[in-house]
Amino acid sequence: MSAAQNLSYSVIQVVHNFGAVATVGGSVIATRLRDDLMRRRLANLVLIGWVTQAVSGATFGMVTYHFYHQLPDISGIAVDALAIKMVCATLGILLLAAYLWQSRRWTEQGKSNAWVSSSVLAITAISGAAFLRWFS
Ligand code: HEM
Repeated sequence: MSAAQNLSYSVIQVVHNFGAVATVGGSVIATRLRDDLMRRRLANLVLIGWVTQAVSGATFGMVTYHFYHQLPDISGIAVDALAIKMVCATLGILLLAAYLWQSRRWTEQGKSNAWVSSSVLAITAISGAAFLRWFS
C-alpha cells in the first residue's frame, strides 16, 4: 500500500474516530441530563457526529475505489457488521434531526427515550466496527 493511500485512510480514521466519540459520548451524557438547552447543544453535536460517520465511512470505500478501481472486498460477517453500522447511522441522523426539529413538543419521557435510543444505536455501531475490522 502506498504512503498516499495509508495517509488517506489514517486521516479518514481520525475523523471517523472523533465522530464515534461524539455519537457515543454525546448520547450517553445526554441520558443523564434534564436541562433542555444543554440537551439541544448535545443534539447538534451528536447529529454532526452521525453525519460525520456516514460521510467518513463512505469515504473509506471511495479511497479504496480510487486506488484499486473496486470497492473493498468484504463478505459474510464483515458485510453484516457494515450494514448494521449503516442502519444505525441512518436511524441516528433521522432521530437527531427529529429531536432538533420537534422535541419542544415532546414529553420528558419522549426526550429521554430518544437519548436512550441514540445511545443504543451508537453503542451498537461502535461494537459493529470491531467485527467489521476483524472479519475484513
Ligand atoms: C454509514 C456508516 C458507516 C460506515 C460506512 C462505516 C465504515 C467504516 C469502515 C470502512 C471502517 C474501516 C474498517 C477496517 O478497518 O477494516 C470503519 C471503522 C470504524 N468505524 Fe465505522 N462506519 C460507519 C459508521 C460508524 C459509526 C456510527 C461508528 C460509531 C459510533 C463507527 C465506528 C468505527 C470505528 C471505531 C472504527 C475503527 C475500528 C477499528 O479499526 O478497530 N462507524 N468504519
